[in-house]
Amino acid sequence: MESPSPFMQRALEAAASARGRTSPNPWVGAVLVRHGEILAVGATAPYGGPHAEAQALAGVDARDATLYCTLEPCVPFEGKRTPPCSDAIIQAGVARVVIALLDPHVGGLGVQRLRAAGVQVAVGDGAARAAELLRPYLRWRQTGLPYTIAKFAVSLDGRVGAPAAGITWLTGEAARERVHADRAWVDAILVGSGTVLADDPALTARPGGAPAERQPVRVILDARGRVPPDARVFAPGGRVIVATAPGSLREWRERITAAGATVLELEPAPGGVNLEQLRLALGQRNIQSVIIEGGPTVLASCFASGLIDEVHAYVSPRILGPAGIALLAGEPFEPFALRNVAVEPLPPDVLIRGYTGDWEPSLPQPQE
Ligand SMILES: NC(=O)c1ccc[n+]([C@@H]2O[C@H](COP(=O)([O-])OP(=O)(O)OC[C@H]3O[C@@H](n4cnc5c(N)ncnc54)[C@H](OP(=O)(O)O)[C@@H]3O)[C@@H](O)[C@H]2O)c1
Repeated sequence: MESPSPFMQRALEAAASARGRTSPNPWVGAVLVRHGEILAVGATAPYGGPHAEAQALAGVDARDATLYCTLEPCVPFEGKRTPPCSDAIIQAGVARVVIALLDPHVGGLGVQRLRAAGVQVAVGDGAARAAELLRPYLRWRQTGLPYTIAKFAVSLDGRVGAPAAGITWLTGEAARERVHADRAWVDAILVGSGTVLADDPALTARPGGAPAERQPVRVILDARGRVPPDARVFAPGGRVIVATAPGSLREWRERITAAGATVLELEPAPGGVNLEQLRLALGQRNIQSVIIEGGPTVLASCFASGLIDEVHAYVSPRILGPAGIALLAGEPFEPFALRNVAVEPLPPDVLIRGYTGDWEPSLPQPQE
């Protein structure tokens, strides 16, 4: 991966700082530079607020400066809530714009607009890093489907817990903190009814022990209507969607709705609800990223359906033996190896993460 220039690197850091707070807008960073000196740094504000470029240009004399942007500046389109950044850049008198990545939603029109107004534009500085940072946005923009991460904690002998032996938590504090940091940026967390019934999890994001300001939508797969309305997942702290099948009882649906959740009826499938339909429905609700924290049944179904883009395996240095529950139950699928693997020590546990390769961003090509 070619390294970004130092100013683009700074813009990428600004973009990363806004991760998870801007959806369905992409998290973008911008850095304004003149004569080698940074004049301003901007990052996308929460949805409806100013974009990164507008933030970097606000209140600064930007004439003859260079603006580094991690994503192509936007153009006017119908229904747009914020003023187009390409116009703001032109009006501010910026001489040159360096863009990491073209936005599939803008499709090169931002570059064209800037060049037509006499602004110099270069595309591609830090492109690979920007694409990696924006995988959820690019996935959703290019396919209409959310970017999906399968997260699980597993013992050295491939078990996710041993409830009969009183072991339901496998990982330590550092791993748990890492999980909450991820929950705090994704749009949704998904589990099956089995996990709610067994563990009664709250499924909220609590980085540093305190509830995050923005909570992910909690999605429960419950084809038969087994989850009780007093489960912790229905406690205040974010939206809840319960995906069910036509067979679940009307009275149960009414009680779940009264508990504050949205009931989503999907077609039945062999393992429960139709997952393909589910992810389309989530994408249509502007959910760009989902962490699947389900048990062995949901995980196996998701892998078998080719739904997973990224895996986060928290490996705990324990042996649970035959009393333990195996990581995957149910549908068989083709073996595969993760790509772009990264290993993070989170003592006493280890996080192994990587991409499944089922989807890779197809990046619009820079034009000269
Ligand atoms: N270590 C870990 O990371 C971890 C994480 C989570 C859970 N766990 C453990 O896993 C155990 C629970 O396992 P589990 O397999 O029962 O939980 P699960 O995978 O979360 O839930 C399974 C249930 O989800 C429902 N479902 C609906 N649509 C589905 C679909 N398309 N595919 C698959 N399932 C679908 C099914 O019930 P309906 O027919 O009622 O819809 C199914 O029985 C507990 O012991 C828990 O502690 C461990």
